[in-house]
Amino acid sequence: MARDDNFIVSVDVGSRKTVVLLAEEINGRLEVFGHGVSKSSGIKKGLINDVKQTAQSIKDAAKKAYLSCNTDFHHVSVNISDPHLTVINREGQIFIAGDEISEQDLDAAIKTARAVPTPTNKQVINSVSNCYTLDKDPITHQGVVVEQPIGQEAKTLEVAMHIVTVSNQCVNAIDQSIREGGLGIDNIVLNSLASSEAYITQDEKDNGVCLIDIGAGVTNFSVFTKGGITYSAVIQTGGDQVTQDIADAFDASFEQAERLKLQHGNAQVKSIRTDKLIKFQQVDDPEEVERYLSHQSLVEVIEQSYLNLFSQIRQDLKSQKLYRLLKSGFVLTGGASKIKGCDALLLSCFKIRAKQGRVNTDRITAERSLLEPEYACALGLLLFEYDESDLRAIQEENDGNIFGKIKQQFKF
Ligand SMILES: Nc1ncnc2c1ncn2[C@@H]1O[C@H](COP(=O)(O)OP(=O)(O)OP(=O)(O)O)[C@@H](O)[C@H]1O
Ligand SMILES: [Mg+2]
Repeated sequence: MARDDNFIVSVDVGSRKTVVLLAEEINGRLEVFGHGVSKSSGIKKGLINDVKQTAQSIKDAAKKAYLSCNTDFHHVSVNISDPHLTVINREGQIFIAGDEISEQDLDAAIKTARAVPTPTNKQVINSVSNCYTLDKDPITHQGVVVEQPIGQEAKTLEVAMHIVTVSNQCVNAIDQSIREGGLGIDNIVLNSLASSEAYITQDEKDNGVCLIDIGAGVTNFSVFTKGGITYSAVIQTGGDQVTQDIADAFDASFEQAERLKLQHGNAQVKSIRTDKLIKFQQVDDPEEVERYLSHQSLVEVIEQSYLNLFSQIRQDLKSQKLYRLLKSGFVLTGGASKIKGCDALLLSCFKIRAKQGRVNTDRITAERSLLEPEYACALGLLLFEYDESDLRAIQEENDGNIFGKIKQQFKF
């Protein structure tokens, strides 16, 4: 296939693996026709600490993707996950001069909502307008909520927005890595916003849902209420910490602990009905030494490790007063959510419904192996679409910095 503009490309730069996916739209649904996966290096706990190594991982995955479908590409959508990110929820209201709301009115309302002071070391990367209210009464706060305001008759328009800011350092590192990897950035999307596209339905977003992506080095979690993202955070721990806890508990190497986790892992001790002995090797064991551990003791360590993670999430959600808003409960993604009983442990910890997420195959399809939870972000990046008005606002505000330049180069 020759290069043309009828396809899109995503790059998920994770702590464990880097993924490149190519997809095209067929009958209103995206179909992934090319992919490449490489082992990540230069990334620790979700943060790029060596641009050259990260660029090499991107090059490796891109080359594999090219070979898988013989299609050349350059512009990509890439994810970002920053422990210092913030999601600010803001409303912007304007008076309508004419009879009907115009595109310029909408832009002006969005601009008002987005007029948040951003510290010099941060920038807005995504902003989502999810609710438009016409003629809101200043006393009762009631108004007419519409999905699309342009062309409607009203005296005032209010737009509710979720504004995501991340550190310049994170944006610069990903931008440099992608460029040194021989590619160009089309979009930068918050990890959770991307994953939610493939894994969460609009109904769930309306009802209140928390998406948890448990990766190797980080856990991204986001709360969606009233249709849009209202809170997002990154905890710098994930599946690799579980492996490390097993290694520490049994004095085994990281590789040995990872094998034990993948072959015998379970998140709930109570689901182990009959115990068994499992052969393993300790760090300094000579080859001939046969050592055993009990399955139950392994699962105890794993359960505790997941509980440590869940309790950090719980504390955070409680302090944000978001706990009671999750009518649709929790949806899990990310490689480390694949451990048996992860959803049941989450349910027992939060007493709120929890389920392992599934790709919405009405919107995107791919070969079976790519529908696994560790590809949630790469798939979601393909689906993420900017609202045109938000794009114009982002470009105006970020004029001069990297993100502004990216938008200028590729979108306008
Ligand atoms: N069946 C499984 N049971 C338990 N853990 C698993 C399983 N399969 C994969 N994992 C864990 O999932 C993690 C990798 O997940 P993932 O591929 O989503 O990470 P990543 O996207 O590279 O990293 P991050 O998002 O943290 O930057 C590893 O820690 C791995 O041990
Ligand atoms: Mg990931």
